Amino acid sequence: MEQPVQRDPAQIDPGQANQVDVDKLMSFVYRAVDEVGATLNTALVVMGDKLGLYRSLSTHGPLSPPELAEKTGTTERYVREWLCAQAAGGFVDYDPDSGRYSLRPEQAVALTDESSPAYLPGFFQIALGSVIDSPRVTEAAKSGTGIGWHDHVADVHEGCERFFRPGYNAHLVAEWLPALDGVMAKLERGANVADVGCGHGASTVLMAGAFPESRFLGSDYHEGSIATARRRAATAGVDDRVSFEVVPASAFPGQGYDLVTMFDCLHDMGDPAGAARHVLRALAADGTWMIVEPAAADRVEDNFNPVGRAFYSFSTLLCTPCSLSQEVGLALGAQAGEARVREIVTSAGFSRFRRAAETPFNIVYEARP
Ligand SMILES: C[S@@+](CC[C@H](N)C(=O)[O-])C[C@H]1O[C@@H](n2cnc3c(N)ncnc32)[C@H](O)[C@@H]1O
Repeated sequence: MEQPVQRDPAQIDPGQANQVDVDKLMSFVYRAVDEVGATLNTALVVMGDKLGLYRSLSTHGPLSPPELAEKTGTTERYVREWLCAQAAGGFVDYDPDSGRYSLRPEQAVALTDESSPAYLPGFFQIALGSVIDSPRVTEAAKSGTGIGWHDHVADVHEGCERFFRPGYNAHLVAEWLPALDGVMAKLERGANVADVGCGHGASTVLMAGAFPESRFLGSDYHEGSIATARRRAATAGVDDRVSFEVVPASAFPGQGYDLVTMFDCLHDMGDPAGAARHVLRALAADGTWMIVEPAAADRVEDNFNPVGRAFYSFSTLLCTPCSLSQEVGLALGAQAGEARVREIVTSAGFSRFRRAAETPFNIVYEARP
């Protein structure tokens, strides 16, 4: 194959040659090499997760490529190449003397321990699903049409669940619910709770396990997610106190709820204001609406950091198209910020709104009638 001719980057466009700092240009190109490697690594992390390569390395490592292939029922040639890419990216360690690969304790926790808040494979899985579906977003950006949550590949739905669950396990019962005024006592005594936009029900099942006296309705407009949520509740043995319904947020059934929760879904809705009005109608007079949204500042420039970058990217590929696919199509975006969320909530008629808790990735708002 004919090789491309190597040219001095400053000569690419002679008209710009005087303005181009070649060192800066090349450092940008090298940064792009890193970014392309990272993009491809998204697929490789999901591959390692699905094939059990990280788990086997964690349990049995250090391992050579044939040993890892043998233990995971995979083929040596693929595993060897995968290991080289992982070692080059710092996701596994390599010992040249033994020719074996291993995971350091921190890598093992982040890549294999589903109970750790630092668990990462779900993050990569939803990213991979988003990238797989991105050609449709490119087309949609021309016409302005939306793409619903239900339209995505399963890696988006399952990755979302596996991405968020570790954070809910770490923060929901220990920090977020206690940060709400009087809610813990109600949950312990026996409260009526609606978990709206619950997806695979990670938050619903977790709360139901922690508060056996309370009753939970999980709802989502996506039928496939609700089918999975029902299975999750049955597996966790909490299906006696949890029910699920396929219904949009503007119409979930029931009245007099002590608590309505929305985890990372208000901004995905086409009509968050309509959903807010429905929550107000469904709440008891002294009820609470807990809204968990991605961490974000009000000014876009204050979100130009690694977390904001990831959330704006998910927002471009998932959240904004989802909202645009529904009626109203407000498209708040995943980085709407507190001021915009407050405006939606108070315009719907809630009299109190405050930031109750936060983590580097989430803000928890409390709204009261
Ligand atoms: C990012 S996912 C979060 C799912 C879940 N709350 C969690 O934390 O894992 C957003 C969810 O909002 C749901 N959703 C989007 N628009 C909705 C609407 N109008 N009514 C109900 N659910 C909606 C989607 O189906 C999806 O399950």
